Amino acid sequence: MSRRFVVRSSAAAGALALVLAGSVAASPAGASTAGSHQPPRVPTSVGYGGAVSSLDPVVSEVGLRVLRQGGNATDAAVAMAAAIGVTDPYSAGIGGGGFFVHYDASTGEVETIDGRETAPAGAGPDTFVDPATGRPYPFYPDLVTGGVSVGVPGTPATWDRALERWGTTTLRQALRPATAVAEQGFVVDQLFHDQTLANQARFEAITSTTELFLPDGEAPAVGSVFRNPDLAATYRALAAGGVEAFYEGELAHEIADAVQAPPVAAGTSLPVPAGSMTPADLAAYEVVDRDPTVFSYRGYDVYGMAPPASGGTTVGEALNILEQFDLESLDDAAARHHFFEASALAFADRAAYLGDGDFVDVPVDGLLDDTFAKERVCLLDPQAAAPKPVAPGDARSYDGVCDGAPASGTVPEDTESTSTTNLTAVDKWGDVVEYTLTIEQIGGSGIVVPGRGFLLNNELTDFSIAYDADDPNRIEAGKRPRSSMAPTIVLQDGSPVLALGSPGGSNIISAVSQMLVNRIDLGMTIQEAIAAPRAAPQNGTRTTAEQAYVDAYGTALTAYGHTLVPTANAIGAATAIEIGPDGLLTAVAEPTRLGGGSARVVRPAGQ
Ligand code: GLY
Repeated sequence: MSRRFVVRSSAAAGALALVLAGSVAASPAGASTAGSHQPPRVPTSVGYGGAVSSLDPVVSEVGLRVLRQGGNATDAAVAMAAAIGVTDPYSAGIGGGGFFVHYDASTGEVETIDGRETAPAGAGPDTFVDPATGRPYPFYPDLVTGGVSVGVPGTPATWDRALERWGTTTLRQALRPATAVAEQGFVVDQLFHDQTLANQARFEAITSTTELFLPDGEAPAVGSVFRNPDLAATYRALAAGGVEAFYEGELAHEIADAVQAPPVAAGTSLPVPAGSMTPADLAAYEVVDRDPTVFSYRGYDVYGMAPPASGGTTVGEALNILEQFDLESLDDAAARHHFFEASALAFADRAAYLGDGDFVDVPVDGLLDDTFAKERVCLLDPQAAAPKPVAPGDARSYDGVCDGAPASGTVPEDTESTSTTNLTAVDKWGDVVEYTLTIEQIGGSGIVVPGRGFLLNNELTDFSIAYDADDPNRIEAGKRPRSSMAPTIVLQDGSPVLALGSPGGSNIISAVSQMLVNRIDLGMTIQEAIAAPRAAPQNGTRTTAEQAYVDAYGTALTAYGHTLVPTANAIGAATAIEIGPDGLLTAVAEPTRLGGGSARVVRPAGQ
C-alpha cells in the first residue's frame, strides 16, 4: 500500500482485480503509415452501462475497453490518463500534475485528490531571478524552457492514490493498455504535428527531446505512426516497481539530473536555465486528499477543486453572483453582459486570495458564500460594463450590504498557458470521475528525461513570476502553484447529473462556468453547451473571445461597454458526461476545438 499521500477526508477503496488485455494501437509495430484500426472521433454518444470522454480517440477507446472489461470509472480514468501521456504527451503525462475529482455511488460522497506539482525545497524568492543579471528571467524564452520551472510531478502518485481509494485494478494493470499504445504506436494527427512544429525551437534546444519528438530533425508527419518505446519501458518500470520506481531510485535521480543539468544541444540560442530539484524532493512528494469545494446553483450542488486550484472558488463565485439574476429572462446579450461582469468580480477575488491553502489563508467559505456574492453584486450594473479592472471584495468580512466598495483594482500579469487536458468517466455503478491534468505549457519545460520518453512540466510558472511577500501565489519551497483547473461534478438531490472539465489555463474557469450557464440557464443541451462559442472574460479592459462569439454578440456587448478581441485559438476544450433519468448517459466531447474529442458509451442506446 502506498504511503505517498496526506489525508484530509475519509476514503474507501475497491478490491476486485481486473485484467486489462488487448491493445488499441493504430497499426502493427514496424509500420510507418496509418493502419486501418483508428478508433472513431465521436463527439456525442448516448447510452448505458458506463461512458468515457476525452480529447483523443485512442484515449477514449482505452477507457471504453476498461469499462467493458468490468473496470470502474477510476480504473478507466487512470488507464486513459496513462494513454494521454502517450498520444497527447505535450499536454500531460507522468512528468506533470493534476486534480482528480470522484463521486462514489456507494457513499454518495464527492472527494478529490490534489496531485499538483510542488516547488522543490530549494525554491524561494530568488527562484525566478537570473543570477547572471540579478533581474527576473524573461518569461519567454527563459522561464518556459529549462529546469528552473519544473515542479515535482504529482501524476504518478495521483494514479496510485486514486486506484488505492476507488479502483479495482492495480497500477500495473491500469498501465497495460497505454504501454501497448506506446510500444505499437499511434497515428499522428494534425494537432500532434502542429504542436510539435510550434515547439520545434524549444525541442531542438534539448537533445533528449529532439531525439524523441523530432526524429530525423522533423516533426512527425500527419498519418505516420509514432512510437515511444522509452515511455513503454518507463511504464513497465512503474508497473513492476510501483510509484516508488518514479519517486525513488534510478528514475528519481535521472529526473533531478535533467532538471539540474538539462541536456542542452550545442549551439542553441535558448538560455535553458537549470533548476534545483533533488532526488530528496521527489522522495518527499505526496498527493493530498482534499475536501471539494461546493456551492449550490439553481437547485444543483456543484462540486469542484479546492486550492491550490482556483477553479472551484472562481467558478463558484461567478455563478453565485449570476444566481442573483434571472438569466433566463434576459436577452442573449444581456445574459452575456452579466456573465462578463460576474466573471470580472470573481477573477478580482481570485487574484487577491488564491494560492496554496496549505501555505496561505484562502477564505474559501467566504468566496463561496451567497452573502458575499450579494455584496459583490453591488458592483454589477445590469446596463453597463464597470471600468476594469474591478477591485477585490473582502471575503473575510461581509454582510451582503452595498457599502461603496472601491470600484477599481489592479490585474496581475497572466502567464498561464492554454495547454492541459481533461477526461470524464462514469461506470455502470454510477461512480463518476472528472480529471484535469497537465504539464503546463504545450510541451511543458521542453525537457524529456533522457531515455525515459516523457516531458517534465514547467508548472512553477503558474506561481506569480514577480515575487511579492503579500501575494498568496508567491513561490515558496514545498508550495503548489495556483491552478485554474476546474474539474466539476454536479449533483441534484444527491445524485450526479453532470460532470465536465476543460483545459486552457485561466480560460478553464471561463469555459467551465460558461458551459454550466449554457446548460443550466440558457436552455442548451449539453452538446450545444459545449459546442457554443466562448469568451474568456476575466478582469481586464479587453475580453478575448472566439471569432464566432464576436460575430454573434460583439456588437451588442460593445454597446454595454465591453471590448472584445477575437482569437483564433480555442477557449477551452471540454469533455463531459450527463447522467439522465434511468441512467441514460450522454457523453460529449468537443466537436471541433483541438480537432475534436471522442465520447463513447458502453452500450449505445437503441442497441
Ligand atoms: N497549468 C494550468 C493550470 O494549472 O491551470
